[in-house]
Amino acid sequence: MATIATSLAFLSALSLAPSHADESTFRLKNANGRDLVATKCITCHSLDYIPMNSKFLDRKGWDAEVRKMIKAMGAPINPDEAATIVEYLSKNYGRDNPPD
Ligand code: HEC
Repeated sequence: MATIATSLAFLSALSLAPSHADESTFRLKNANGRDLVATKCITCHSLDYIPMNSKFLDRKGWDAEVRKMIKAMGAPINPDEAATIVEYLSKNYGRDNPPD
């Protein structure tokens, strides 16, 4: 009996999985520059890297991070876009302004 109960629980967990995935999709804060960040930074990795680093990076840190993405990783971001992105990240995900 225990085996049947366990496999039923397992099956219902499986059928719930898609909706859980939807709920946990990370959403960037809505502010000037969000669309640029969302389109430029998702091409190589998850946007989760942004909130994950919001505890450590201030404006200088984000500036260095964005430069590194461009120089070391080859992100196709021009200087104007980089300025907007750094502004957005330091305002919304800076160490001094962590997300809620
Ligand atoms: C051309 C590919 C590419 C683009 C575009 C890109 N990244 Fe990255 N990024 C990487 C790679 C490669 C790593 C390191 C490997 C890994 O952990 O996936 C990384 C890692 C990071 C990290 C983790 C810390 C670190 O330095 O390893 C952060 C934060 C980050 N990226 C932020 C951004 C932001 C913000 C943008 C948009 C401005 C961006 N990335 C765009 C390739 C890219």
